Amino acid sequence: MPPETPSGTRRPDGGHPCRLSFDGRTIHARPGQTVGAALVAAGVVAWRATRAAGRPRGLFCGIGVCYDCLITVDGRPDQRACLVPAADGMRLETGLPGRAADARGR
Ligand code: FES
Repeated sequence: MPPETPSGTRRPDGGHPCRLSFDGRTIHARPGQTVGAALVAAGVVAWRATRAAGRPRGLFCGIGVCYDCLITVDGRPDQRACLVPAADGMRLETGLPGRAADARGR
């Protein structure tokens, strides 16, 4: 049975964690966790750099607005890590941003 919170409601039991590959490194995510949350939980706080100044970027707004968290997911560039649900076997890659970042001058 899932654990009970102080208010008496039941939390989801979390299910089985999934495994993702991040630039060849294995990280774990809980069901329902986003790619960005899984990366931060694994101690990764930056996974791309700005084009002009090479400044590190990772989660900023966390709600899909700023596009700072762009990452390549299963070969698809410019996915917002804060919005993509983590899935077992997912392959995450850092690298240069693609069209979405270009359009915003980042
Ligand atoms: S952190 Fe802002 S869009 Fe993902």
